[in-house]
Amino acid sequence: NGVHTQDNELFLHRGFKLIRGIHDPDDVDQIYDLEIRDSDVFVVTYPKSGTIWMQQILLLIEAKGDVSFISQAGNNSDLVPWMEVKGTREAFITAPSPRFRVSHLQYKFMPAALSKRKGKVIYVARNPKDVLVSYFYFHKFANMLETPKDFNDFFEKFMMDRVFGGSWFEHIKTWYSHLDDINVLFITYEEMIRDLSSAVRRITSFLGKDLTEEQLANVVKHSTFKNMKKIPQASYEKVSGDLLNHSQGGFMRKGTIGDWKNHFTVAQSEQFDEVFHREMQDFPLSFIWDM
Ligand code: A3P
Repeated sequence: NGVHTQDNELFLHRGFKLIRGIHDPDDVDQIYDLEIRDSDVFVVTYPKSGTIWMQQILLLIEAKGDVSFISQAGNNSDLVPWMEVKGTREAFITAPSPRFRVSHLQYKFMPAALSKRKGKVIYVARNPKDVLVSYFYFHKFANMLETPKDFNDFFEKFMMDRVFGGSWFEHIKTWYSHLDDINVLFITYEEMIRDLSSAVRRITSFLGKDLTEEQLANVVKHSTFKNMKKIPQASYEKVSGDLLNHSQGGFMRKGTIGDWKNHFTVAQSEQFDEVFHREMQDFPLSFIWDM
């Protein structure tokens, strides 16, 4: 995991940046034709938008707040695996219901059956300045990604879409323009930070589950930043050191809104705002940028 700026870890597939060794273009292309069950749930995010948080919430809702269900797993990603990781197709096809998956893919790669209103999607969006900062730190400990020289170096990389997931703007816009075609809950990281209890209720009712007040309270309790950090299956501390260099950082880093203010220069912030305004002017989406 040396310091490079060559993007040797990435490759472009149908306009989308994937990671060498982790993704296989043929496997990714086969996702489109998968048969989908009504009970399938897909958590979709641009990287660093609250993926592992939603994995935890989804599992807790399914387990009616009983956290012991989670501690039996090696890692939450065993229970809610990544859709696009190579070699996972067979397990998806044969898994018993309900099948829970996470994905960072753009809409065009996802199962076509979603647009026939099969299955459910939870799209988690986060203000992209905080995404950029979180992604910078992720590159330091994710062994499959090259470590940026410094924050400025990563800022350029992100702004030029030289990251897994490609353009943040394209990701959200392509999903957002299909919201009416699929069974989807669109939720933001910031809403979850501001009122986790309401967010958990929204998610529970979207999933068609009926939990008691006590069960709901347990879901919330075990998905706060503080408590998730203490659960190694939820915080990804159980993931192999081959994949994550745990001495260089971790998923449960800060968990706040507005950390970008501690990283962006005024010029970078202005540059970002300009791009945001240009890219998002036709989309009626507003974000919460600070606490
Ligand atoms: P920070 O790096 O800003 O702290 P992903 O799971 O998509 O990779 O996103 C990781 C980000 O979600 C990290 O952001 C992490 O701290 C945050 N996160 C994970 N669980 C959280 C929780 N329970 N509460 C708040 N933020 C959480």
